[in-house]
Amino acid sequence: MQTNLRGRDMITTQEWTKDEIDTVLDVAFDLKRQRAMGVSHAYLRDKVLAMLFFFTSTRTRSSFEAGIAQLGGHGAFIDSTTTQISHGDTAKEIGEIYGRYYDGIAIRQCDWDFGNQYIRDVAAASRAPILNMQCDVYHPFQILADLMTIIEKKGDPRGLTINVSYAYASSYQKPISVPQSLILLMTRYGMNVRLTHPPEFKLMPDIVDQARENARRARGSFEILDNFDAGFQEADIIYAKSWGCLLTTSDLNESAQIGKKYTDWITDERRMALAKEDAIYMHCLPADRNIEVTDGVIDGPQSVVYDEAENRLHAQKAVMALTMS
Ligand code: CP
Repeated sequence: MQTNLRGRDMITTQEWTKDEIDTVLDVAFDLKRQRAMGVSHAYLRDKVLAMLFFFTSTRTRSSFEAGIAQLGGHGAFIDSTTTQISHGDTAKEIGEIYGRYYDGIAIRQCDWDFGNQYIRDVAAASRAPILNMQCDVYHPFQILADLMTIIEKKGDPRGLTINVSYAYASSYQKPISVPQSLILLMTRYGMNVRLTHPPEFKLMPDIVDQARENARRARGSFEILDNFDAGFQEADIIYAKSWGCLLTTSDLNESAQIGKKYTDWITDERRMALAKEDAIYMHCLPADRNIEVTDGVIDGPQSVVYDEAENRLHAQKAVMALTMS
């Protein structure tokens, strides 16, 4: 267990050692148990977390806000459009000034080719820890909750096969931060990681390289497939979700046309039957129901999506308690 995490930023799990992530998981399970038992755990009394959002959220906002309150602190929700950011306040000003008011600054900034750099620029100016609530490259808290869920449902993740797959959605060009963070973290836990996507839906090459190196070091495996059905074969975990073809085009019309080639990339009962009998279905949500995944699968016995969403709360509380105390 690592006990020296005060003041640390969580921008990507890749910048935390495996020992440190194990500590987060250990604390997260402890906090989950305490909440189930009704045991008060006000480790962050009088601490205040800024929650700066440039993008909408159901789960992230609510789980951070509930989490900091359960830890005895307060969460200040800040919609970026209500600030002076569009009138000139730079990332440096946000870091310098919020870093003096608050004990932690959580930011969601998903703009392509901008969000991660913005968060890093705030971090460079802040004396308080920075928590990445999702950027264009990473979604670390989602993936910590996902790993926690896998351990709960399957035990030791080493040797399990996870299929991180593209699925079609019509709603919007979703960020690539979830699949990128998944392949980075799950390879570090010795899993057999399958990344399945059509050719236009590649992830960032340096992230893929890091995932491959993580798998080599952890003695797991990493492979890339381009056949949707093949990704399901004998998998223990199906994590099929939509993302945008952001590395292929930034043109919204062109990307919508490309996506329409893959409307049959929907997780349905036939495909789930290709996976292991006890395979679980995961999705970070929101999902485009009956486009990305059928109701039968997402509401079916193999789906763990609500436990997965709950674990956001516990994983985030663990990181806040460790970094903001
Ligand atoms: N999974 C996730 O981050 O959900 P929200 O976008 O609703 O926060």
